[in-house]
Formats: sequence, structure tokens, C-alpha cells
Amino acid sequence: MGAQMGLQYVFAACIPYTALIVFLIGFAWRIMDWARRPVPFRIPTTGGQQKSLPWIKPASLDNPSDKTGVVIRMILEVLLFRSLFRNTKMTIENGDRVVYWSSKYLWLFALIFHYCFLIIFIRHFRFFMEPVPFLIGAIETLDGIMQIGVPRLFMTDALIVLALCYLLGRRLFDQKVKYISLINDYFPLCLILGLVGSGISMRYFTKVDIASVKTFTMSLVSLSPDTAALANIGAPFLIHMFFLSVLLMYFPFSKLMHMGGVFLSPTRNLPNDSRVKLHVNPWNPAKEYRTYEEYEDEFRDAMYEAGLPVVKLPEDAE
Ligand code: HEM
Repeated sequence: MGAQMGLQYVFAACIPYTALIVFLIGFAWRIMDWARRPVPFRIPTTGGQQKSLPWIKPASLDNPSDKTGVVIRMILEVLLFRSLFRNTKMTIENGDRVVYWSSKYLWLFALIFHYCFLIIFIRHFRFFMEPVPFLIGAIETLDGIMQIGVPRLFMTDALIVLALCYLLGRRLFDQKVKYISLINDYFPLCLILGLVGSGISMRYFTKVDIASVKTFTMSLVSLSPDTAALANIGAPFLIHMFFLSVLLMYFPFSKLMHMGGVFLSPTRNLPNDSRVKLHVNPWNPAKEYRTYEEYEDEFRDAMYEAGLPVVKLPEDAE
């Protein structure tokens, strides 16, 4: 019994604490590393007319020339995945005709996945806060408003599984996407499916003593894990925590860092003002310039001899 409790403690407290430390340090380190990188020139992604002459209409969102445009484009990108909305699908028709179609499914399911994850994440704060803030209760009520089953089905639970299946299915069954997919693409999807799946099974099927979970998570937050409460919580919770811990540790070293990286991406956070301002690379060595007169003083004789026009004739010229 003692050994079992020890193992439970490792999975419910030691591993999650370690994972959180790895996540926080790793995340901060990646962000600081990116923030330190020099970006001497403007390299924004452009998807429309650049601001130039007054009578040519600029695409202020797709080719922002100032900070306001950049901020609006960034907000639309982060909240609505605007660039993904342009996603296209290529097919070959009648044997040799290449056709590009507008394809909105990736955008739609990516958006559903991210928003469901966010809502589930916010809903989980009920385990960590006492009293539970009104907003979290309201989100929970709205999410279960369909009143299907007991306990009530959260719409986000069904939708996130649907979205994850689409995202995984597209990598497995679309031959072109499959060809370019790596283990780094499958792993996070499977991991999140495991995390979500273990949560769903706990809520709807295997059941868990929520009061003990709350006591235990509150004790985790105050850095003194309550082993008595942990004794009432079964293996499904430990599996859920393990998936979460792996996700936290994997996060800073994976493509999931796009969450923080999007804000530091020079192709997204720079205005395209290279026709308005001269951007000089600050690391260029200092240059010594000379005037044309000084140049001619040095080469006058040779220029004159070669028959090149000179402003001032050499002293010994006839
Ligand atoms: C970002 C990380 C997490 C994700 C994506 C996630 C996902 C889920 C999902 C989809 C469910 C199904 C029910 C619902 O939607 O509420 C669930 C349930 C649950 N999760 Fe998580 N979870 C996460 C983190 C955590 C953490 C940190 C804890 C506790 C320390 C936790 C404890 C639980 C418990 C106890 C349930 C069962 C809830 C119930 O019976 O109503 N989860 N989780």
C-alpha cells in the first residue's frame, strides 16, 4: 500500500511539478532566444499592394505599412487564423490540368480545436480556485447548455475530439500531407488526443471523486500535496496528469511554440515601410565615404591618360 501511494505521489505531484518547471523555463528561454535575434531588415509577409504613390490603393491589412496595420493583422491572425483562411487544395483534373480550389476545412477545424482547447483549459480553473469565479461558472453553463446526458455533455468535449480526428486524419489519409508529415506532427496530436480522451473518460465513463480532486489540486497549488485526498483518486486521474506532464515538457522544444513564436515572427510583426524609411544594418562596419572630387584627385592622371572626362585637368596637361 505504501509503495502504491509512493507511485501515485510520483505521478500526481513529482512529475507534474517537474513538467511545469521544464515548461516555464523552456518557454521563457525560447522566447528570450528569439527576442535576442537581430532583425536588421524588414521582411514581412506581403499579400497585397504595398503603400507607395498616393493614387495607388494600398492593402493596409495584407501589406501593413505602419504599427496600427501590423497590430490589426496580428489580432486577426491570432484570433481568426486569417492567413489559413486562404488555404488552397491542388488537384489534377482531366489528366493534366492543375486546379487550385479554395479549401476551408483546415481553417475551420484548426479554429475549432484551438478554441475548444482554450475553453476546456479555462473551465479547468474550477479545480484550482475557491470560490470559483463567476465567469468560469458561466462558461461551464454555456458549454453544457445543450443539456445532453448526465453529467451534461460539454460541447467542447465533442468538438475537440472531432477536430483532432480531422487534423490527424488529414495527415494519415491525404497522400500529399502524409508525405510531408513527420513524427513531430503526429506526436502532439496523439498526445492531446490522449489528454482529452483520458479527461472525457474520467468525466463520462470511469468517474472520479471530484471533491477529492479539488482538495488535491488546491493542495498542489499551495505546494503541499495532500496525500489523503490523493488516496481517493484513481488511476484515470494519474493517466490524465501524465499526458499533461508530457505535453508540458514537450511543448518548449516543439512546433507547439508557435503559440509564443507568432508574436516574435519578423514576417508578421514588422511594418513594410522600406520605401518610406532607409533601414541600415546596424552591424555593418563603419564606412568611410569620399566625394567625387577626392576620387578624381586620386585617379585624375590615369583617367586623363585613358581619355576619360575629368572635372579638373592634371597640372602637367597640355
Ligand atoms: C491543458 C490541459 C488539460 C486539458 C486539455 C484537459 C482536458 C480535459 C478534458 C477534455 C476533460 C473532459 C471534461 C471537460 O471537458 O471538463 C477533462 C476532465 C478532467 N480533467 Fe483535465 N485537462 C487538462 C488539465 C488538467 C489538469 C491540470 C487537471 C488537474 C490537476 C485536470 C483534471 C481533470 C479532471 C479531474 C477531469 C474530470 C472532470 C469531471 O469529471 O467533470 N485536467 N480534462
